[in-house]
Amino acid sequence: RKVTTVKALSELPGLSSIPSIYTFPKQTYHEPVSDTKEPIPTIDFSLLTSSHPGQRSKTIRELGKACRNWGFFMVTKHGVPERMMKAIIEVCREFFELPEEEKRGIGGKHVLDPIRFGTSFNESVDEILCWRDYVKIFQHPEFHSPKKSPSFSKRVRLVAREIIRGISESLGLEKDYIDETLNLENGLQLIAANLYPPCPRPELAMGLPPHSDHGLLTLLIQNQIGGLQVQHKGKWVNIDPIPNSFLANIGDHIEILSNGKYKSVLHRAVVNNRDERISIAVPHGPALDAIVSPASKLVENVGNPPAYGAMKYKEYLELQQGTMLNGKSCLERIR
Ligand code: SIN
Ligand code: FE2
Repeated sequence: RKVTTVKALSELPGLSSIPSIYTFPKQTYHEPVSDTKEPIPTIDFSLLTSSHPGQRSKTIRELGKACRNWGFFMVTKHGVPERMMKAIIEVCREFFELPEEEKRGIGGKHVLDPIRFGTSFNESVDEILCWRDYVKIFQHPEFHSPKKSPSFSKRVRLVAREIIRGISESLGLEKDYIDETLNLENGLQLIAANLYPPCPRPELAMGLPPHSDHGLLTLLIQNQIGGLQVQHKGKWVNIDPIPNSFLANIGDHIEILSNGKYKSVLHRAVVNNRDERISIAVPHGPALDAIVSPASKLVENVGNPPAYGAMKYKEYLELQQGTMLNGKSCLERIR
């Protein structure tokens, strides 16, 4: 089928409603949002890399707590220059401004093609369309780009790898356990840039329905328009953007590796009728051919059998990206 982008749709003159294929069932996706004042945890990255052992171990305990209680946390003092973060958002914004045919012309269609542009989540399988256009570009182990230099991705990857080392330690594993077992030297990193144009009926549409992320750790930046909601203690919580910080969340493969000690957390993107929102998610995963299963050290104890089957990351990725986005359904298939 041929689907127009949301960008083109939203620019139709006088658009005051949305096609029914963009309407999500109210009871499933529009539950009320919690008014909790409990702040999302913040990890000061400079303390995680501190040479002062007490500071580092305290930060690792906080990281463990954030992974157990939220699965999401803000990362501050990460050292990635603000101008780089602003520049990448600007590059993406300009990309989405390109003519329809030009955007459609870049990259492939298969979920493992290194450059892929599209609308919704996966327009070839989605029954309801999401109010979102995207471009996904592999950055590592092979760098791809229509124009951008690798400097942003490289800096972000350093931050992600350091946090993953901290997560490994916080689980009581060797600092380099995840690194070595899942071959992170060749780990997958990609940029997933999302455009959510203003929507005339935001209460009917969804930017992205509830899902958890594949991989180990996603770092997200966004323009200053909120829209991300995270499930916390059974309620949806709005996460407001904080300038110059990354929003981090753990993915399904940390849940598998930790044997469920840390859970990947459901989140979704809602849309609004005023402002264009851009977010850039940078997921970091194992090497594509790495096989992920619960860490042996965490399943040794009697009464703690492995709760997840082993699966090659590449196969998981194909499954998660090639089927309709639906909660944690992919992870449930290997439980
Ligand atoms: C995502 O979940 O991949 C993106 C969410 C967002 O746009 O904030
Ligand atoms: Fe996500």
